[in-house]
Amino acid sequence: MPLVYLIPVLSEELRVNIAVAGTGYVGLSLAVLLAQCNDVTAVDVVPQKVSLINGGKSPIADPEIESFLARGDLQLTATLDGKMAYRRADLVVIATPTNYDPEKNFFDTSLVEQVVEFVLDVHPEAVMVIKSTVPVGYTKSLTEKYPQGKFLFSPEFLREGRALYDNLHPSRIIVGVPSESVFEGELQIAARQFADLLIEGAQDKDIPTLIMRATEAEAVKLFANTYLALRVAYFNELDTYASVRDLDAAAIIEGVGLDPRIGDHYNNPSFGYGGYCLPKDTKQLLANYNDVPQNLIGAIVEANRTRKDYIAHEVVRRVEELRRQGVNEPVVGIYRLTMKSGSDNFRASSIQGIMRRLADEGITCIVYEPTLTASTFAGCDVVTDLDAFTRQAHLVVANRWNDELDSVGDRLFTRDLFRRD
Ligand SMILES: NC(=O)c1ccc[n+]([C@@H]2O[C@H](COP(=O)([O-])OP(=O)(O)OC[C@H]3O[C@@H](n4cnc5c(N)ncnc54)[C@H](O)[C@@H]3O)[C@@H](O)[C@H]2O)c1
Repeated sequence: MPLVYLIPVLSEELRVNIAVAGTGYVGLSLAVLLAQCNDVTAVDVVPQKVSLINGGKSPIADPEIESFLARGDLQLTATLDGKMAYRRADLVVIATPTNYDPEKNFFDTSLVEQVVEFVLDVHPEAVMVIKSTVPVGYTKSLTEKYPQGKFLFSPEFLREGRALYDNLHPSRIIVGVPSESVFEGELQIAARQFADLLIEGAQDKDIPTLIMRATEAEAVKLFANTYLALRVAYFNELDTYASVRDLDAAAIIEGVGLDPRIGDHYNNPSFGYGGYCLPKDTKQLLANYNDVPQNLIGAIVEANRTRKDYIAHEVVRRVEELRRQGVNEPVVGIYRLTMKSGSDNFRASSIQGIMRRLADEGITCIVYEPTLTASTFAGCDVVTDLDAFTRQAHLVVANRWNDELDSVGDRLFTRDLFRRD
């Protein structure tokens, strides 16, 4: 049974030497959070990120990270020198990428292990907290492979673009302890201390905190993200039904959401769930089910493909209609590659799945994406001027609405019914 308790506000000052491996959304937000009260060294392999952070600038778009770094009162240094940082750290937070490897049908955890081996080499006593999302059972296997290592796993629940905000106001803090470790007793205390450090840096103080086994903590992360994917897929499938049957999807969703057990949130149709985490985390959970009966988890992954097929089919139908009206080579304008308005990255965004399907149909696309510097993307011309873009496109396809699309009128195709994420 996991132990559940609310940790009181820390009364004594406790400065810890912390190294954070990886300065992406997870690593940088945690580095900033922890550097309010501790000495933090953030390690990355990209020199540009390191120099931006040392210059008080954020390499990612995140209002809270930007303002905390600009204030200049954090005990935070960034470095490329992992050896130096890990050697003097009591605590190493690992926030390196764990991309899904389609060949192995599993996460590629090699970058986490790279850091683990580095730490074991220069400072084996350090406690390593894995914040990267990992397969269920990963920390157990790591503990068996490196019995001399002191590992904890703590799932991260932040949203990109609100990364520091979500750590200042966390929904919960979970720390997992591998029960297989010879250091289990010591790690139970370290888990509590790590949770205390997160609470110390947070602006909320009554934060539900769970200490549990590492394997369950890993499962929490994958099941939480898969539930979010399920919810997106559910409302998208509702929207597909309504569109095909010529019904008002917004009215149906509003009526459904008024049931307090369902709620009026996270229900805005889109071109599919996407971004860095949901596609890979759902696939990883499905892989973890290999010899366990299931229907739903596989169906969620499948439903996202079906939704993108449907959206692409609807765009193709409109292009064919334009051809019938005498437009020889209709041009489809792809408005933004990002998943959400306000985002600065488009890793695995669903609109790219639509673009691939349109390319297979031989349809000409142009892209409007202000964060792009290249002149082409995925075989499509990038148009940097919005007016020129909307003039050239016979049909504009947008996963998310923006007021600047007002002038496009009925040439716009979107399923963003509520004009929010
Ligand atoms: N992005 C999210 O919303 C989110 C939320 C929860 C969990 N996660 C998980 O956290 C992990 C990191 O995600 P992210 O979005 O912060 O990734 P990211 O790609 O934004 O950042 C990862 C950083 O690690 C650096 N890096 C790579 N190899 C390194 C090494 N050997 N040593 C030091 N740094 C190294 C990269 O240069 C990069 O700056 C992933 O496992 C992800 O699934 C992400």
